[in-house]
Amino acid sequence: MAFRNKNIVIIGGSSGIGFATAQLAYQQGATVTITGTSTATAQQAAQLIGNVAAYPLDITDEHAVNRFFNQLTAIDHVLVSAGGTKLGSLFEGSVADHATPIQLRLLGNIHVVRAATPKLRSGGSFTFTGGLSTDRPVSGAWVSGIATAVAEQMARVLALDLAPIRFNAISPGYTDTPMWTNVLGDNREQVLATVAHTLPVKRIARPDEVAQAVLSLMQNKSVTGEVIHVDGGARLV
Ligand SMILES: NC(=O)c1ccc[n+]([C@@H]2O[C@H](COP(=O)([O-])OP(=O)(O)OC[C@H]3O[C@@H](n4cnc5c(N)ncnc54)[C@H](OP(=O)(O)O)[C@@H]3O)[C@@H](O)[C@H]2O)c1
Repeated sequence: MAFRNKNIVIIGGSSGIGFATAQLAYQQGATVTITGTSTATAQQAAQLIGNVAAYPLDITDEHAVNRFFNQLTAIDHVLVSAGGTKLGSLFEGSVADHATPIQLRLLGNIHVVRAATPKLRSGGSFTFTGGLSTDRPVSGAWVSGIATAVAEQMARVLALDLAPIRFNAISPGYTDTPMWTNVLGDNREQVLATVAHTLPVKRIARPDEVAQAVLSLMQNKSVTGEVIHVDGGARLV
């Protein structure tokens, strides 16, 4: 029960990595608050975990983020796991289509930090979500490569600017979450199996494996400005 008496807020806790982190933190005694983009997704996830508070939130909406954190009292740790990946050429679609995922990581994280910091208890931390494409850009996923780099760099710069609050980032590689169903549709299983074969560990990560690393970032009071990679060795191949 390492997280007993700890209040943990997970933005994007209704699915995938955020959901797995919420579940693990809850099992370890934390009081957990999660968000999804809708009341339905947030509440469905909360019911699967246990006695967890659930709210709808779009972190690109600054006023909504302020309202959300205003209703909370003391917070120990915040994970921002909101987001997804976007494929496509720079010349396809509108500029706004490309900017949205980047704004989610840039403005979304800024909105969250500004609103949550006044509620943060001593020893508190923020964890942002980067990703493999920072170090290993994938052709066609250029937007994701920028968005993940933004999240990881934000952890490093804010660790200095807002010390002693700790800021870290988790950088997942290919992880088995609903995000891939959204991106790959019916090709999901085939593509992930092909990718798994290329990795040193020969498998796709489970979201709870990423969650374990997130909880260690929250717990270790000497870790700040750090990016932890949970990628099955993908950066090496
Ligand atoms: N899975 C991977 O292989 C992988 C690899 C590298 C990096 N990542 C990154 O890890 C993060 C989590 O990914 P995941 O695989 O867990 O994805 P996921 O299963 O699709 O979960 C995404 C979460 O973000 C929420 N969300 C989406 N847009 C939002 C917004 N504007 N404001 C607030 N919340 C929002 C979603 O809410 P709803 O449930 O309501 O939609 C959901 O809770 C993402 O940033 C992703 O880019 C994932």
